[in-house]
Amino acid sequence: MSKQRAKLVIGNWKMHGRLAENAALLQAVAQGAAGLPAEVGVGVCVPSPYLAQTQSLLEGGRVLWGVQDVSAFTHGAYTGEVAAPMVVDFGASLSIVGHSERRAYHRESAELVAVKTQRALEAGLTPVVCVGETLEEREAGSTEQVVGDQLDAVLVKLSEAEAARIVVAYEPVWAIGTGQSATSDQAQAVHAFLRSRLTAKGAAVADVPLLYGGSVKPDNAEELFRQPDIDGGLIGGASLKAQDFLAICKAAAATSVVS
Ligand code: PGA
Repeated sequence: MSKQRAKLVIGNWKMHGRLAENAALLQAVAQGAAGLPAEVGVGVCVPSPYLAQTQSLLEGGRVLWGVQDVSAFTHGAYTGEVAAPMVVDFGASLSIVGHSERRAYHRESAELVAVKTQRALEAGLTPVVCVGETLEEREAGSTEQVVGDQLDAVLVKLSEAEAARIVVAYEPVWAIGTGQSATSDQAQAVHAFLRSRLTAKGAAVADVPLLYGGSVKPDNAEELFRQPDIDGGLIGGASLKAQDFLAICKAAAATSVVS
């Protein structure tokens, strides 16, 4: 008998897209995703100014949407920030938090990422918490230390029930936007380690979706998604092309049935 295994594929558009191209991309993704099996969840994280457009084009369909960051505050004198409840006003259900680009370029600490995760959860968003090591850290043999510390900083602030509502994305910094994905063995090894950390938090947390991100493309997605602890992907560059993004969603579908 075959067993179903839920998969999740989320696009991270980063700071790309304008009204006209977004419309074409969102329509194509909505249309393509409609034919996917129910075990495959699909989402897109867009730049905040396009939330209204995204809502109007995706509402009523199966593709979820959200943002790439939220403020650590709920409201107030924080010029330029976007609060989680504002995002929810536009029907969003996802927010990436702690992406390595935010950790690096905006000096976000592990503690700040944890607070942002709490704000997202309070507002009813699913936080997609990103962790990942640099090439230097990997070569120094400290990958588990780095990603373990990044994850623990978040888990320590959450109850078991809250932690069960997060998604975790392992994104090795050296694989992001470089075309050099982690091998499926490298990714699986870190995912298994992260799974053990999640399991230690409580039985309800053991099964949170663990996504891999970093140069996922149509031609490597299936091999990555077949790994036992890889539940899908967080897709940057390839999420900007409907055809590529949908091909990756199809790879998730192909790996969602285990015989
Ligand atoms: P990439 O980005 O797929 O372009 O490597 C992934 C990410 O940063 O989320």
